[in-house]
Amino acid sequence: MVVSFILAASLLGAVSSTIASSQHHSIIHTFPNLTACASETLEYSCENTTAVKDSCCSVVGGGLVLQTQFWDTYTGLEKKGQLLPKDTWTIHGLWPDNCDGSFDQYCDLSRQYDPNPSPAVLPDGTHVPPYKGPSVETFINDFGRTDLLEYMNTYWINQGGSNEEFWGHEFSKHATCTSTFDVACYGSTYKKHQDVINFFDSVIRAYKWYPTWDMLAAAGITPSNKTTYTLSQFQNALKAQTGAVPYLGCAQNGTVLSEVWYFHHVKGSEQYGHFKTLNSTTTSTCTATGRIHYYERTATSERVVG
Ligand SMILES: *[C@@H]1O[C@H](CO)[C@@H](O)[C@H](O)[C@H]1NC(C)=O
Ligand SMILES: *[C@@H]1O[C@H](CO)[C@@H](O)[C@H](O)[C@H]1NC(C)=O
Ligand SMILES: *[C@@H]1O[C@H](CO)[C@@H](O)[C@H](O)[C@H]1NC(C)=O
Ligand SMILES: *[C@@H]1O[C@H](CO)[C@@H](O)[C@H](O)[C@H]1NC(C)=O
Ligand SMILES: *[C@@H]1O[C@H](CO)[C@@H](O)[C@H](O)[C@H]1NC(C)=O
Repeated sequence: MVVSFILAASLLGAVSSTIASSQHHSIIHTFPNLTACASETLEYSCENTTAVKDSCCSVVGGGLVLQTQFWDTYTGLEKKGQLLPKDTWTIHGLWPDNCDGSFDQYCDLSRQYDPNPSPAVLPDGTHVPPYKGPSVETFINDFGRTDLLEYMNTYWINQGGSNEEFWGHEFSKHATCTSTFDVACYGSTYKKHQDVINFFDSVIRAYKWYPTWDMLAAAGITPSNKTTYTLSQFQNALKAQTGAVPYLGCAQNGTVLSEVWYFHHVKGSEQYGHFKTLNSTTTSTCTATGRIHYYERTATSERVVG
């Protein structure tokens, strides 16, 4: 009995390590060097009572972290096959706000991969040059991360432009202002664009905590071109699932639901730390008194996924 168990376990071990090594064959790891963090005392960002010693271990500056999502009803690039995932909100990004709600952007122009910087001129007068090099999609391929690329092309969808330019925009505008993605955090073995891949993985980790479509559907709120909803209905449904009220964004003078932002303080790195969900610090742009459309998508703009 014991012998056969050991035999079975070692066979299983051999099989699973064979699978693991073939899957990971050409994948290059993208972890930062977090060795120094093992001896750091961590506190939630924006709540620290002493100065943070190592900005690779804790988010410094943009410690109010927002996981943001879109509800788009079309992409504008349907003819090129750029479709939305059915019954799923899509990724916008992972943003570093300062603890007071203000934010910095394009903090490291040596990592500028956004072909259409917005804004093109920062409040201090700095010009952000448009990026003309190979798209961030090539970075993902260089790291052997076809799994990541496939996920991003399914759930991180642009409107009116290509997905790659949107991803490059999100990295250069926001991740360069998040201390735990600083190039120095990757140590002496840093490989160019490792931080970009590590950021994309981190965005997806946070996005997966908030299945907005399902959380609303659990409260009976589904897209409809016949019914409308109130702001409280959306807020209560999401608060019931996450313990906090996110920001809800509306277009057309507050009448068409289009985005959601989940707020956090983070204990540890943005890559692997603990996110504490908090109430929004920003007032909703959806009407607080009127009715709100949560539109069904155009059928030809979406596809079944998963
Ligand atoms: C929290 O850490 C930041 C970064 O080290 C520091 O500037 C700030 O003063 C700290 N807050 C307190 C209350 O010590
Ligand atoms: C990782 O960080 C530790 C502690 O700061 C340092 O001693 C080590 O040299 C670093 N390793 C690399 C590869 O940079
Ligand atoms: C926008 O909404 C506000 C408040 O609901 C209303 O007073 C205003 O007339 C609306 N504006 C337009 C252009 O519809
Ligand atoms: C979050 O907002 C809800 C509803 O507005 C409120 O009941 C709750 O006390 C708030 N929580 C915190 C921590 O401020
Ligand atoms: C629902 O309404 C929106 C907004 O007018 C429209 O774009 C969409 O195509 C409609 N969807 C369906 C399934 O009728």
